[in-house]
Amino acid sequence: MKPILEIKNISKYMNTRKIIDNLSFTINKGEIFGFLGPNGAGKTTTIKMITGLINIDEGEILIDGYDVKKHYEQAIQNVGGIIENPDMYGYMSGMDNLKHYARMHDGITKERIMQIVKLVKLENRINDKVKRYSLGMRQRLGIAQALLHDPKLLILDEPTNGLDPMGIRELRETLRDLTKKGVSVLVSSHLLSEMELMCDRFCIIDGGRLKEIKSISEINSKLNDTDSRLYIVDVNKLKDAKEIIESKFKDIRVTISKDKLKIETNKKTISLINKLLVDNDLYVYEISLSSLSLEDEFLKQTEYKQII
Ligand SMILES: Nc1ncnc2c1ncn2[C@@H]1O[C@H](COP(=O)(O)OP(=O)(O)O)[C@@H](O)[C@H]1O
Ligand SMILES: [Mg+2]
Repeated sequence: MKPILEIKNISKYMNTRKIIDNLSFTINKGEIFGFLGPNGAGKTTTIKMITGLINIDEGEILIDGYDVKKHYEQAIQNVGGIIENPDMYGYMSGMDNLKHYARMHDGITKERIMQIVKLVKLENRINDKVKRYSLGMRQRLGIAQALLHDPKLLILDEPTNGLDPMGIRELRETLRDLTKKGVSVLVSSHLLSEMELMCDRFCIIDGGRLKEIKSISEINSKLNDTDSRLYIVDVNKLKDAKEIIESKFKDIRVTISKDKLKIETNKKTISLINKLLVDNDLYVYEISLSSLSLEDEFLKQTEYKQII
């Protein structure tokens, strides 16, 4: 199947500085693709090139097979995006904002608007003024606007910025629903933890260069039973549990954090630890893996030291 987006060896110069350096990646149909990188990595610049807001100095970008440079009209009609904050009129209702936008495009029917409003789950609030919306609702209204002309590729530049966990979850669900309708999504972020749950695949860029392309399932399955991971253990009598484990396993460090134990060890040993705790009449309520894998990957690939 032909990819929805093909980025082939693109470069961009600002004055004489190369801010995008020979970048290539593709996005498949129906996929949510994460575009990860620290601030200043070149995410927005790349997105601006994809959407034709700035020129591509070297290389080419194809959207659904159409070259952005040579067939701009055809290429761009397949894309909907929110690059900077979506422009919305606060004094108007969500619906009036969408209608206003719809007038600028051909063939957007009332039914289409309602269908999209439903998809982004704003039907109960769509007649309220936008200034009364939460940030998450504004974000979803922005997505609705970007989807009105029925694009095949939706591009969101740092959509989770400023969203609370609930807003992020709703965004994630909205994006999932979209892919079920065949829309592909490019979502950029410098936030790691959210991308892991949101995306099917992702790439990491830093200093305008591609560092890595991986699928989330690849990351989750690549660890062997003997590889060390961070486990979170929910057990009663935390201090007793810590002592029991450390006296039996001398080289394992156990920390207590947020009423849970954190243990870095491998799959085999965690099962032994579980047995040890149970044999000592402690109650083990839950053992889970900390989802730090993408974060680890990110830090390894970039110079980025600050985790937000
Ligand atoms: N208009 C511009 N003029 C000069 N430098 C720019 C301009 N826009 C972006 N840059 C530089 O390009 C690099 C990439 O920026 P950007 O694409 O905004 O990164 P990101 O979106 O990943 O945070 C940064 O070093 C930034 O300072
Ligand atoms: Mg940016």
